Amino acid sequence: MQKSSHLQHIHSVFAIITVLISWASVLDLKLASARSSSAVLYNGVRNLAEGVDLVSGVSIPGEVAVPAGQSLHAAVRGEGHQHYLFNGTAWVLQNATAKLYGDDTEGSDPIGTHFFLPQPDAQGGQPTWEITSSTTSLTSAVTGKSLASVTVDSGSITWVLLQATSHAGEAEGILGKVSYIQRLQTRRGLPPSAEGQSLGDIHSTKYSCIYAFYVQSS
Ligand SMILES: *[C@@H]1O[C@H](CO)[C@@H](O)[C@H](O)[C@H]1NC(C)=O
Ligand SMILES: *[C@@H]1O[C@H](CO)[C@@H](O)[C@H](O)[C@H]1NC(C)=O
Repeated sequence: MQKSSHLQHIHSVFAIITVLISWASVLDLKLASARSSSAVLYNGVRNLAEGVDLVSGVSIPGEVAVPAGQSLHAAVRGEGHQHYLFNGTAWVLQNATAKLYGDDTEGSDPIGTHFFLPQPDAQGGQPTWEITSSTTSLTSAVTGKSLASVTVDSGSITWVLLQATSHAGEAEGILGKVSYIQRLQTRRGLPPSAEGQSLGDIHSTKYSCIYAFYVQSS
């Protein structure tokens, strides 16, 4: 009597464990499919300027994925500052300035700059990238406006998808036909967590990221 209830007990413990294991695998499958549906992986993409692979293996969240029909054209490393103004209640982004590098080697020469136009262009774009190709020496620039952003690391500025709004310089340059831009792999760049002392205070925070440039697939 006692023995059989003991066996029953063991049996139901096993049943519970079996249920838990099958739940866990369903949950795991769900997580795995959520991960793969929200991420686009680029492999073997090269920076056209210096031939260095900067985007390979970066998992891009669905929120900032480019629309269909675009292909990755170039990627550069950005190193610079995000400039914030204290408006009395909050730090508000004013501007960003950065140097753009064609590889990830410390001490290499920049191939371009990132800055904001003094006024937004006709379509509301302001952030701008300008690159001089080290192979063709052509200089080209693209300006864009933000479409979407997502926080990937709470200690760093968001990853962003921008749409190109205007171009400048040589149309045959690296950025001459860019359609979309992404800011990826951000490090730091957030405003201070404490309020400013007084209205009009400026704070510049160092940041780095990868900028990826797309063109319409032909
Ligand atoms: C300051 O910026 C915050 C965040 O953008 C905004 O909600 C607030 O209205 C601004 N305050 C003033 C005085 O402009
Ligand atoms: C952006 O910041 C830089 C450095 O502080 C400054 O020289 C430039 O005029 C600013 N541009 C805009 C559009 O605010």
